[in-house]
Amino acid sequence: MRPDDRDRCQGAEDEDEEDEPTELHPVHYGTAVGRTATDYDAAMKLEGKVALVTGASRGIGQACAVALAAQGARVFVNFHRTAEGAEETLRRIRESGGEADALQADMGDSAQIAALVAACVSRFGRLDVYINNANAGERRPGQRGSFLDVTPEMLYQQFLLPYQACYAGGQTAAKQMIAQGGGGAIVNISSIHQERAWGADSIYGSMKAAVSRLTRSQARELAPYGIRANCIAPGFIDIRAFPGERGDRYDVYNQRAEVEIPLGRGVPDDIANGVIYFSSSDARYVTGQTLFIEGGYLLVPISEI
Ligand SMILES: NC(=O)c1ccc[n+]([C@@H]2O[C@H](COP(=O)([O-])OP(=O)(O)OC[C@H]3O[C@@H](n4cnc5c(N)ncnc54)[C@H](OP(=O)(O)O)[C@@H]3O)[C@@H](O)[C@H]2O)c1
Repeated sequence: MRPDDRDRCQGAEDEDEEDEPTELHPVHYGTAVGRTATDYDAAMKLEGKVALVTGASRGIGQACAVALAAQGARVFVNFHRTAEGAEETLRRIRESGGEADALQADMGDSAQIAALVAACVSRFGRLDVYINNANAGERRPGQRGSFLDVTPEMLYQQFLLPYQACYAGGQTAAKQMIAQGGGGAIVNISSIHQERAWGADSIYGSMKAAVSRLTRSQARELAPYGIRANCIAPGFIDIRAFPGERGDRYDVYNQRAEVEIPLGRGVPDDIANGVIYFSSSDARYVTGQTLFIEGGYLLVPISEI
């Protein structure tokens, strides 16, 4: 109370004369209404949420699934061909006290996407966080194709199917989130290839650019339902479980990445950290964004890897 305020109160009842403790408005974090900032920091960020991660049998998807569970989410794990990888994801989550289940589904097939989301809801009752991580479609080893050599079949497999997986997956997930109410979060995984043209990456790069652009439309059109959509563009992320796992060439790429990228190579947990941010109410006012998690890769002119 300022001195002049005190003067104006002269003659008021005694109790009015006492300094009332200043009432601080608690900081509200999204749905965690009533919690203070301190309470929120101490809590797991995704407690009570259900997350679905596509392509979570290895690499970035697996790290995201484990990280989401570590923040309290119940996680539905999708895989395609690597059942033992999905088992490993479930084992890691359950050993840490988390809850998870898995389903095989080809993200290149819209009917299987619908069945995947339905199975997640049947198992956990709802869907709050959808991580579009898997690339659908087939690419033969070493087959990238320079622009002049790309065939309609390559375009179908490497552009249409993964883009359609992103589109149909996000659409199906959003419809479920709208039906159940309470908002939600979609995170699409693109790539730094969306930004810069490397050799023979016309399909992959433009597909990832489309994923990033789609995110902005999702963000705009889903905002009225409280659903946020964001995108992460990873740089060079080392997804080897051990050196040699993906062949000599990949090992050499890793060595060069350590030297040429300002912060060296990334690991799947670096992407998972971004996914946790976008999925949680820490990012409650963030939508339509693409976050580049790339260790400074795009800052400097480095040779192709
Ligand atoms: N690693 C990097 O440096 C990097 C950089 C930029 C962007 N990215 C992006 O990050 C994402 C994950 O990539 P990653 O490097 O971790 O490994 P990846 O080899 O691209 O993806 C592996 C995961 O995708 C799943 N998958 C593949 N085809 C599928 C399909 N038709 N249906 C469902 N799941 C399918 C695999 O499942 P199964 O094994 O069970 O078949 C596996 O779990 C991708 O979108 C990729 O483009 C990666």
